[in-house]
Amino acid sequence: MNNKHELPISEETRKFLESKHLLFINGEWIESSSGEIIPVVDPATEEKIAEVQSGTKDDIDLAVRSARNALEAEWSKIPSHDRAQILHRLSDEIEANFSVLSELEVLDNGMPMQLAQYSIASHGVTLLRYFASWAPKIHGKTIPVSPGGVMNGDSLTYTKREPIGVVGAIIPWNSPLIFAILKLAPALAAGCTVVLKPAELTPLTALYFAHLIEKSGIPKGVVNIVTGFGETAGDALAKHEDVDKITFTGSTEVGKKIVSSSVGNLKKVTLELGGKSPVVVFNDADLEKTIPGVARACFFLQGQNCMAGTRVFVHEDIHDELVEGVKNMAEAFQIGHGLIQTNDFGPLISGDQRNRVMKYIKQGISEGATLVCGGHETNEKGFFIEPTIFTDVTADMAIARDEIFGPVLCIEKFNNESLEAIAKRANETTYGLSGSVWTNDIATGHRMAALIDSGQVSINCHAAVDPAIPFGGNKQSGWGREFGEEGLGAYLKTKATTVIY
Ligand code: NAI
Ligand code: MG
Repeated sequence: MNNKHELPISEETRKFLESKHLLFINGEWIESSSGEIIPVVDPATEEKIAEVQSGTKDDIDLAVRSARNALEAEWSKIPSHDRAQILHRLSDEIEANFSVLSELEVLDNGMPMQLAQYSIASHGVTLLRYFASWAPKIHGKTIPVSPGGVMNGDSLTYTKREPIGVVGAIIPWNSPLIFAILKLAPALAAGCTVVLKPAELTPLTALYFAHLIEKSGIPKGVVNIVTGFGETAGDALAKHEDVDKITFTGSTEVGKKIVSSSVGNLKKVTLELGGKSPVVVFNDADLEKTIPGVARACFFLQGQNCMAGTRVFVHEDIHDELVEGVKNMAEAFQIGHGLIQTNDFGPLISGDQRNRVMKYIKQGISEGATLVCGGHETNEKGFFIEPTIFTDVTADMAIARDEIFGPVLCIEKFNNESLEAIAKRANETTYGLSGSVWTNDIATGHRMAALIDSGQVSINCHAAVDPAIPFGGNKQSGWGREFGEEGLGAYLKTKATTVIY
């Protein structure tokens, strides 16, 4: 545990934290109509580091109106090459402000600095550039049709791909800036305008990003950012009759609420929800690569990751060796404040989340799983829980069933069961987001990958993420796909036109 050093932050970060944080609507910075604020807490110290506005339904109304006006006035009509160039300029701004964004992300979310830097540089910037480059490549098709009926002459049918309209984006706290970019990049490339509601627990990088949006030349009203609680600002956005689409990442529980909120105007909905992803390790796997891979699959972001590989199924021949190896890795993590570069394991996001995870750990013990390591909170300030491993886990236990969203790895054994039998166990979950297979046998790898019921499977790695790889969930892990061409398509609507001549 290493929290005691003077925390190294830049003057620019300090200045931003001390400034007054407002709502960003129609290119202006304004106060919320609530007159109320939400404290922002550093989860590694439990200290308040800033205050943001608690946005209301009225603030959301104003933001949606501004997004609608910007859509009609300008953004959807700007030549796509110019849209691309503006988005590339925004990427340049992220690169130029990389260290402040990284520091704010660490302070707000608790993630280790190495991870913040990696995710902003490797995911944030590349995501934005990837979708910027799509903007001029959006086009329809010409479609040959059979004459007959009303089409009793020569005819031409063509499609156009148009922006879906005003997008409401509601994002979680586990990777705040990346989620903001993941929603904004394809929406803006497609020509949509956006109202973004960051998570109440982690609003800071989105607000800093708004300043970069201003600098990049994106017209006023194209992006609006309303901080606030889910039950108020989030709910108002999801129900708004003038929002054409909601894109949401968060819990399955709230995802279901979003669906019912969308019914009023039947707005389109993309959902990226929870997971309980399987990791299947065969006895021919290369343990030198598999052990760190399995440890990272679960403990990345302290397990607060929808793709986390939290259910390991391992062949009994190598069970003990794998458990020992992953335990050694778990115990080697440097737990502490993310701003200290050598720390690689941060706190959970909040006291509530820590208590929720501790409840599951206690339940795992009382239901008869074997605690191999971890299982404790650290005694100092901050919402820290040690990386925790359970063996002898069975499918009926709560720790094997529910998305814990914390550093809790559950290990089960298999023997010489058929691939179908192993897959049946791996698929015994209401979720279907990610998964991985570890083996040196190509045929086993592909066969097992085909049997896992999830939107994404990796062989000999876990959670391969790239702007070009479609990502999303089967079953209760979501609706639709993000990233890649399919992710862009979620912000477009097709219009077919036919001419008879
Ligand atoms: P949440 O789903 O409540 O929060 C996600 C976003 O939804 C936040 O911006 C929140 O303000 C908003 N929201 C909440 N209620 C809303 C409503 N009624 N209408 C519209 N927007 C609403 O997640 P929470 O409560 O922070 O975490 C609880 C659990 O959810 C976690 O333990 C984890 O299991 C899961 N989760 C999954 C995530 C993922 O990436 N799939 C991300 C965050 C949480
Ligand atoms: Mg919630």
